[in-house]
Amino acid sequence: MIITVDGPAAAGKGELTQRLAAHFGYARLDTGKLYRAVGLKVLGAGGDPEDEAAAVEAARALTGDDLEAPGLRSEDAALSASKVAAIPAVRDVLLEFQRGFAAAPPGGAEGAVFDGRDTGTVVIPDAPAKLFLTASPEVRATRRVKQLQEQGTEAIYGRVLQELKERDARDTSRKVAPLKPAEDALVIDTSHLDADAVYAAALEFISAKAPD
Ligand code: DC
Repeated sequence: MIITVDGPAAAGKGELTQRLAAHFGYARLDTGKLYRAVGLKVLGAGGDPEDEAAAVEAARALTGDDLEAPGLRSEDAALSASKVAAIPAVRDVLLEFQRGFAAAPPGGAEGAVFDGRDTGTVVIPDAPAKLFLTASPEVRATRRVKQLQEQGTEAIYGRVLQELKERDARDTSRKVAPLKPAEDALVIDTSHLDADAVYAAALEFISAKAPD
C-alpha cells in the first residue's frame, strides 16, 4: 500500500504523514529531504544550485549522512532545494531512489507514506490513496515561523512569507513535475483545520480506498 501526500511547504504534510505512518506501521519518506540534501551539498561545495552539472553531481553522490546534515531544515536549504528540484536530471536521479523505496519499503513494512510535491503525480502515479494538502500562504508562513522558532532559529514573518511565495512560484511553474494535485487526489485546505481534523479526514479517505 502506498499513500502519497503532496502540497506546498508548511501545509501540514509532515505531521500528517508521520501520524499515518505510525498508525498503519508503514515506512515514511520525506522526499523534500532528498532535494534539501542535494541543495545543501551544492552550497557546501561552494556551487550554484542552478548549475546543472554541480546539482547532478551532488544528487549522484548523496549519502545517508547527507540526509542527516545539520542545516537541512534551514530556509537556505529550502530555497536551494527548490532550485535543484527544477533541474530534470536531478529529479531523474532522485526518482530512482524514491521508486525503490516504494517497491521495497525499509524494515519490511507493508506500505509506505510519501511526503512531497509530485509523489502522487509522477513518482507513484498508481498509488491507491493520494492526498493534497494546501493552505493560504499567510497561514503557512505563520506556521513556518513557529516551527523555526521552536528549533531556536530567529525568523521574520515578512521574509518567511516572501520566501514561501518564491518557492511556491518556482515549484508550481517548473516544466518537470510541477506542484499540482493528482486528478484522483483528495484536496484538503488546512487553513482553518487543526491537525486532528486533517488526520481524521485523511484516515476516512484512505479507509474508503483500502478497507482492511
Ligand atoms: O517539502 P520541503 O519544503 O522539504 O521541500 C523542499 C523543496 O524540494 C521544495 O521547495 C521543492 C522540492 N521538492 C520537490 O521538488 N519534489 C518533491 N517531491 C519534494 C520536494
